[in-house]
Amino acid sequence: MKPIRKSAKLNNVLYDVRGPIVDAAKQMEDEGQKIIKLNIGNLAPFGFDAPEEIQQDMIRNLPNSAGYSDSKGIFAARKAVMHYSQQQGVAGVTLDDIYLGNGASDLITMATNALLDDGDELLVPAPDYPLWTAAASLSGGRPVHYLCDEDNGWMPSLTDIRAKITPRTRGIVVINPNNPTGALYSDELLKGIVQIAREHNLVLFADEVYDKVLYDGVKHTAMASLSTDVVTLTFNSLSKAYRSCGYRAGWMVISGDKTAARDYIEGINMLANIKLGSNVPGQWAIQTALGGYQSINDLVKPGGRLCRQRDLAYELITAIPGVTCVKPQAALYMFPRLDPEMYPIADDRQFFMEVLRATRVMLVQGSGFNYPDNQHFRIVFLPHEDDLREAIGRLAGFLAAYRQRHAKAA
Ligand SMILES: Cc1ncc(COP(=O)(O)O)c(C=O)c1O
Repeated sequence: MKPIRKSAKLNNVLYDVRGPIVDAAKQMEDEGQKIIKLNIGNLAPFGFDAPEEIQQDMIRNLPNSAGYSDSKGIFAARKAVMHYSQQQGVAGVTLDDIYLGNGASDLITMATNALLDDGDELLVPAPDYPLWTAAASLSGGRPVHYLCDEDNGWMPSLTDIRAKITPRTRGIVVINPNNPTGALYSDELLKGIVQIAREHNLVLFADEVYDKVLYDGVKHTAMASLSTDVVTLTFNSLSKAYRSCGYRAGWMVISGDKTAARDYIEGINMLANIKLGSNVPGQWAIQTALGGYQSINDLVKPGGRLCRQRDLAYELITAIPGVTCVKPQAALYMFPRLDPEMYPIADDRQFFMEVLRATRVMLVQGSGFNYPDNQHFRIVFLPHEDDLREAIGRLAGFLAAYRQRHAKAA
């Protein structure tokens, strides 16, 4: 029989946070080994529970959830998202501008599918959250990566964004707070990106799923609050701030000059309609989450579990010779760098596969986030402090041996 091949549209799709390294870890687990998993921002397995009030409301509404909802989602949840947008200072958002989906992920692919023609370009950050690069490619478009500058606290380079705009560019993706770097962008920088979008008639895609996961008292500004004209699609969900990744409850808000975007919005509506709506029990969680007690604040404040884990992970990782890292101000991740003089790495995927085999610690290499060198990796600081100490201790041991081997060879 002739081999059945996958679509070439998948050529640009990287998903190392769930890819070969996870397969290798699974095999090791099957052999009875215990793996410390620092590869994915899934909160529940680390003992971060969804707020009880949310669970109770979902259970109470389960009997009302058997039918399809309106294809954009149920009224109560969309109304709560509308109020949330107003609180963030986003002008002119109506119920009609709000779409619920199975997590932000679902809406991201819908938004790129509705916009991109074959060969159209979407500016995506490097490092990125790889879903964006994948979504651009699967939509027939071409992801073009702009640089986030490690020497400038991982801020996007406005110069690089400008340099990469071509007549085919249709939009700019901004992930703020950022995964994988943990950076939070300044208002000045965000305004700079808005201005570029305005000048070139581009759509802004603001991925803000970590907007409440903030440390050290920093404030997040919703990108959509910075203009009333630039067409901006904002993505958010319950996954992170409400520790509810599995409920798959997310939303998208369209703001800016919607008259100019009428045809694009018609395309989005067509896709929402053929999707027949999203998971309804998850939709019932949204109103309670947004309106209820914001328990995430207890986790991120000084002394809160997430804040302590961030501080510990940062302290331990930067104590390893030749490892530097921008301290994250937000989200659940950091993106350290290995000095290439001390740790020459030809293939970072192979390198972190070796780390897994030798230490039973699963990390994802920087190239898995479309970052163009071999010297970075992402740490997820979700495990309890003891597990973080153990995991980073084992990594430090591996790196010490690697340094020695390299020094001898040199
Ligand atoms: C930056 C970013 N955007 C979107 C998502 C997807 O989130 P959801 O669970 O809402 O689909 C994630 C998940 O890790 C993420 O890190």
